[in-house]
Amino acid sequence: MNIEEAGRLIREGELVAFPTETVYGLGADATNERAVAKIFEAKGRPHFNPLISHVADTRAARQLVRWNDLAEKLAAHFWPGPLTLVLPKTDDSPLALLTTAGLDTAAIRAPDHPIAQALIRAADRPIAAPSANRSGGVSPTRADHVAQSLGDKVKLILDGGPCRVGLESTVLDLTSATPTLLRPGGATREAIEALIGPVALSEALPEGDAALKSPGQLASHYAPSRPLRLGATAVEADEALLAFGDRPPAGAVRTLNLSPAGDLTEAAANLFASLRALDRPEVACIAVMPIPETGLGLAINDRLRRAAADDGKHRRR
Ligand code: TXA
Ligand code: MG
Repeated sequence: MNIEEAGRLIREGELVAFPTETVYGLGADATNERAVAKIFEAKGRPHFNPLISHVADTRAARQLVRWNDLAEKLAAHFWPGPLTLVLPKTDDSPLALLTTAGLDTAAIRAPDHPIAQALIRAADRPIAAPSANRSGGVSPTRADHVAQSLGDKVKLILDGGPCRVGLESTVLDLTSATPTLLRPGGATREAIEALIGPVALSEALPEGDAALKSPGQLASHYAPSRPLRLGATAVEADEALLAFGDRPPAGAVRTLNLSPAGDLTEAAANLFASLRALDRPEVACIAVMPIPETGLGLAINDRLRRAAADDGKHRRR
């Protein structure tokens, strides 16, 4: 693969899908309105949700947002990595209005992946990128997931193998008096609080709420087409089982174990690929075993609850 070529495509306003440590991103020049519009067109997003701008480092971030000591402390510890910071835009921020959906704040992160870093440097500008799936689908953690859902919409898919973290980044809003977790993700709440003290948790907001702060919070955002049943300790014969730990119940049509050892990091990395693999016509329902609500379990359970959210199309019989 040719990174220089990919960087040139970004500069020319084209879409390039690329790997990050969290999930694959659908990237475009974050300073180019038309290029960012192509992202929404390709994803089939119903609304212009604000996007994350990916930068190489804190020096690049400072040109886009009003940086402060708290941001510096967090970035020094977590960047490059799965923590996205929401900060006020600078007065002369080059970000396209569409990148931030017209907000005066912007979400920024430096991804921890050599291909993502090389692409940002080759493009020589911030890259706006949501997860590289059609709106409402499960986020891609492998290049072939991207090819399946967006293959005809992107100029180029850079293949970096499976994503190490497997869950999207944590989104932390630094524009309110207390830093607020808008989306749990790859950087754990515990690790953030160990560094900066207590953070507030924003409540999941109902779809369509005018006060919606982080549209990633839409109730059914990560839905596979089969219904999900959470907290399962037994399975029906027509169910698939998404297991966790060393004692999964027997009897499912198909069983995939997120982590036989009960390791939350391994479970996060396997989550989206496993949901895809179990989302099959012969499966009436995907039963999911309980996952502990600590560390990465917070983000895993958040994604599972969204995938299970009853939006009418998911009711079982
Ligand atoms: O891991 C990730 O974050 C992946 C990879 C590709 O970096 N990207 C990703 O992007 O998940 P997306 O667009 O699916 O999610 C961006 C999240 C959404 O929840 C969005 O609402 C929030 O960030 N966000 C973006 N800008 C914001 C802003 N100015 N204020 C509040 N939330 C914002
Ligand atoms: Mg997404």
